[in-house]
Amino acid sequence: MDVLINEVGPRDGLQNQLPILDLDQRLALIDRLLEAGLPRIEIGSFVSPRAVPQMAGTDRLAAQLRVRPGVEVSALIPNMKGYELALGAGIRTVALVVSVTESMNQKNIRMSVDQVMDIARQVIELGRDDDVRVSAYLAVAFECPFEGQVDPGRVADLAAELLGAGAAELVIADTIGAGNPAQVSALMTRLAQAHGPDVLACHFHDTRALGLANVYAALECGIRRFDSAIGGLGGCPFAPGAKGNVATEDVVMLCEQLGFRTGIRMEGLLSAVTLVSDLLGNEYGGRAYSWLKQQAA
Ligand code: COA
Ligand code: ZN
Repeated sequence: MDVLINEVGPRDGLQNQLPILDLDQRLALIDRLLEAGLPRIEIGSFVSPRAVPQMAGTDRLAAQLRVRPGVEVSALIPNMKGYELALGAGIRTVALVVSVTESMNQKNIRMSVDQVMDIARQVIELGRDDDVRVSAYLAVAFECPFEGQVDPGRVADLAAELLGAGAAELVIADTIGAGNPAQVSALMTRLAQAHGPDVLACHFHDTRALGLANVYAALECGIRRFDSAIGGLGGCPFAPGAKGNVATEDVVMLCEQLGFRTGIRMEGLLSAVTLVSDLLGNEYGGRAYSWLKQQAA
């Protein structure tokens, strides 16, 4: 595989949706994604069910999951309790989110950046003994819905601290989809020079139709890991203005057209889009969806 796609639809995609899917429906979606050959799936989050009712029961979901060898399953955690719950549920990769700005961090998890950085260091340390990989996210890495433009220097400092502490990878997240390819290129070049491209990943939202352009910019910087969500689902309940993630089927199409192998079957992805549209009672699909459907017919 040349490009590793981490499917975040079952987490980022569903956390902001009504109706709230039940465990069987979430499981059916994950199964369909596994069938499509996704190498990595974020199945949900261990957060307060009062804050995000859509993600309640991720522990029971994990218990019912039948994962094939070679597939990596992850879950998002906001704090130490999330880590303990994820560990108890047998999760071996946790996505730990640090928002770069104080306001976003407070709104999202009611902690200061310093507090969550402390927790991140503790989780990374515990992960070493527990054999849990920590994928560290820097959210609102380009623009914050509350504080506006984000200083790339601040992002670079936090990235260095998290990787220095031993995070297995560092994911740059454009939570509200406000970055452009020039900004992506500048930031990812800087980070790749400091840490090498292999420990870096990108997570884009498609609010301003720049999702795929940003993926391309990051590919040009040597980044080979991307988050995306089936059908372009996605959004954060605590970040006003956030639209869906860049769609998995669009990213796979782009990568394959550029000659990168993803190991993912397009027909399987399209079938997952159909399923999630049925489950949520709405038409989903990335920007190339109709064209991709025609090709598959
Ligand atoms: N998972 C489940 N429950 C949790 C939890 C976790 N990771 N962390 C805390 N809780 C529970 C506590 O046990 C407590 O429950 P109780 O009232 O029944 O005793 C309750 O949540 C409040 O705990 P507290 O530590 O005071 O948290 P808070 O009210 O300050 O909220 C978070 C902090 C992080 C729990 C909450 O804001 C949250 O879950 N945010 C998730 C944000 C998110 O998912 N964003 C999108 C992805 S980036
Ligand atoms: Zn997101």
